[in-house]
Amino acid sequence: MNPSERPTVLAHREVAAVLRPGDWAIDATAGNGHDTAFLAERVGESGKVLAFDIQAEAIAAARARVEAAGLGGRVDFIHGSHDRMADHAAPASVAAVMFNLGYFPGGDHAVITRTAGTLAALEAARSLLKSGGVLTVVCYPGHPGGDEESAAVAAWSEGLDAADHVISIARRSDTMRPSPFLVAVRRR
Ligand SMILES: C[S@@+](CC[C@H](N)C(=O)[O-])C[C@H]1O[C@@H](n2cnc3c(N)ncnc32)[C@H](O)[C@@H]1O
Repeated sequence: MNPSERPTVLAHREVAAVLRPGDWAIDATAGNGHDTAFLAERVGESGKVLAFDIQAEAIAAARARVEAAGLGGRVDFIHGSHDRMADHAAPASVAAVMFNLGYFPGGDHAVITRTAGTLAALEAARSLLKSGGVLTVVCYPGHPGGDEESAAVAAWSEGLDAADHVISIARRSDTMRPSPFLVAVRRR
């Protein structure tokens, strides 16, 4: 991965490399639905996307984007926390899970992903990944709570068993302020 590219672009590339028509995928943080629409496009008519968000306005925005793209039939929207995603899919059944942490752009910046919930959701996501599947996490140090959460996500990934996972972190080191970075974990 080239860390000078935007982490959201890198995340799409990581996911595109593994996602196939008919797969199941999860958008853990639907927000405005950019990742949801990307996943829905990739899984094709026979695939399924689960899209989670705790904010009703985010679910509405994501649904509008997906329906405008004619992809609504492929997505189940779940107004709830991503740490319960294992209630909605079978273990080892999902090809990709995408997280884009932080707050809903244009919404209430006080409603953010939180370290404890994020780590619980990452463990749930890992249990759902099938062999060859990938989870991506775009982390945002630099906002209140974001430093701690980003460091915790990186530490979580580095603590995974390398015999079972391929772990990569794409982070710029040439910027004055901490930049967003991508953590990607592929299940072997
Ligand atoms: C940076 S935005 C996601 C942007 C989105 N991926 C897009 O393409 O527009 C982060 C989202 O995470 C949501 N969020 C925060 N905590 C959450 C949780 N526990 N479960 C699910 N979503 C959560 C927020 O409501 C917000 O919409």
